[in-house]
Amino acid sequence: METIFTDVLCIGAGLAGERVAIEAASAGFDAICLSIVPARRSHSSAAQGGMQAALGHCAMGDGDCPDVHFVDTVKGSDWGADQEVVRLFVDRAPEAVREMAFWGIPWNRVVPGKSTYFKGGKEFEKVEASEKEGFITARDFGGTAKWRTCYTSDGTGHTLLYTMDNKVVQLGVTVHDRVEAIALIHDGEICTGAVARCLKTGDLRVYLAKATVIATGGYGRIYRETTNAVINDGGGAIIALDTGVVPLGNPEAQQFHPTGIVPTNILVTEGCRGDGGTLLDVNEERFMHEYEPEKAELASRDVVSRWMTHHIRQGLGVKSPYGDYLWLDIRHLGEHHIKTKLREVEEICNNFLGIDPITQLIPVRPAQHYTMAGVRTNKDGAAYGLTGLFSAGEAACWDMHGLNRLGGNSLAETVVAGKIVGEKIVEFLQGYEVQYNTGVIRSAVTKQEERIKRLISGENGDENVYDIRNHMQDELMERVGIFRNGTDLQKAVDNLQEIYARAQKVGLRSNGAGANPELGLALKIQGMVKLALCTAYGALQRTESRGCHAREDYEARNDRDWWNRTLATWKEGDDLPTLNYEPATETVELPPGERGYGVCKIITCDGEVIGEDKS
Ligand code: FUM
Repeated sequence: METIFTDVLCIGAGLAGERVAIEAASAGFDAICLSIVPARRSHSSAAQGGMQAALGHCAMGDGDCPDVHFVDTVKGSDWGADQEVVRLFVDRAPEAVREMAFWGIPWNRVVPGKSTYFKGGKEFEKVEASEKEGFITARDFGGTAKWRTCYTSDGTGHTLLYTMDNKVVQLGVTVHDRVEAIALIHDGEICTGAVARCLKTGDLRVYLAKATVIATGGYGRIYRETTNAVINDGGGAIIALDTGVVPLGNPEAQQFHPTGIVPTNILVTEGCRGDGGTLLDVNEERFMHEYEPEKAELASRDVVSRWMTHHIRQGLGVKSPYGDYLWLDIRHLGEHHIKTKLREVEEICNNFLGIDPITQLIPVRPAQHYTMAGVRTNKDGAAYGLTGLFSAGEAACWDMHGLNRLGGNSLAETVVAGKIVGEKIVEFLQGYEVQYNTGVIRSAVTKQEERIKRLISGENGDENVYDIRNHMQDELMERVGIFRNGTDLQKAVDNLQEIYARAQKVGLRSNGAGANPELGLALKIQGMVKLALCTAYGALQRTESRGCHAREDYEARNDRDWWNRTLATWKEGDDLPTLNYEPATETVELPPGERGYGVCKIITCDGEVIGEDKS
């Protein structure tokens, strides 16, 4: 069997994984990235609207600074975030934007003079100062006090990833694409790499590394309706959970983005609303300002998604065979704006809806978008439970998002966390030597060989893997979505446990060992259902509402009992995760309070009930 040695093994070649690898390679270490697709097809490239960094260059960002970004991020997280991590992040985000500019990102820039912008469908005048000409500009995004989202039109993820990948090539980092890590190699204390499968030939390989980094992004594909690509199926989270010792942080924290197009759920960026787009109901009337007088369409996205769902439930959605939806209106932004700043949105509408957003309304509905849950790490990106294992980006929970991430903080996190975790790995590697234990390696490989053999030979059972996946996705969508309640969550847990039992008896309809998507899914399905169970069970236990986790039977945020983070581990042989809890943050720069939008009841740490319930 092919065995490959490296210093740093990054599982995932999106922005976070490549940024870690760049840091390691720049310090003289050997780094390899694994990717199930060519690196430039990683899901980072699908990010549209931009990345938040408090540069304060544009007129509407005047007075911005990392402190304001800090407050927005902590409020956005509904006080679920680790405030030390948020501080680290906001302080370093401006440097990350500038570094990416230096590496080649064609950021949109300040153009001095008068121009107009739209807010709530109305036109306003904006004056850009001439001394800021050519500085990196920003657009408005949800839940932010300032315009802070730096962007390249609406293809920010695309430009960032291509630029990052150029740097990877320049530094000689090797990307092994179409290779999937299917198990971590570890002895319960130290991680020494991964067993991987070549998706073209089906051959197994062993990667031995001093530091292994999980950077596989989120796992929205456990839901039926998601903006995530098919590759976002939880590979990294699954192999971490399979160790039995590495916990997932806040598994119940799944974000819905307000504007997935109907019926395909492809994202159209929050930049549409940031630039002045509005949401309309079946009567083609705006409604968000009635629920959120101050921020309207630009409240935090968990809040907007909830009100959209509420509005649809009031019978004010547009009926369709694919379920009710609402309209996104960007017509008033005009052809020039759409063709220059929202050109991917235009293409998506043209290609996937057959409509022209310059003259027509866009059908939208909230869809799962982001996994705040992830491999629990400390602020250096070192995973709990295994020395030598790290995680960064959406795959990780280090935890700067708590129970809700602000739009634009994801792209920013990939490059900031990638750099910080990379630096910490470089420190970790100084003088670090590892003993590779052939017994441990052999047993990790044998386990995978046996799983594959059982599947290919038909010994495993005859359950249909696609059927199981569809049931799991429906279960999460119906009962563990935007609004949750105890009865539904218990039912979801019960049903998912049955689905989990079936997932252990999958049989293949096709027995090729190589480029066989059915086999790939069969190898992953148990892990995906485990992730689904962690989501549902974590949500069932959290008897409060916080950020994206909105319980109809516990409407208040309860800081007295739930100002904490869920840690889910999975012991071999169990059919439910073990849940533990730790404080959400040790450092408290900003004590819990009201978010200022999406007001709801709050039970304070002292047990007092404050705030108005608007739901
Ligand atoms: O809407 C968007 O462009 C998405 C941004 C994000 O998730 O950060």
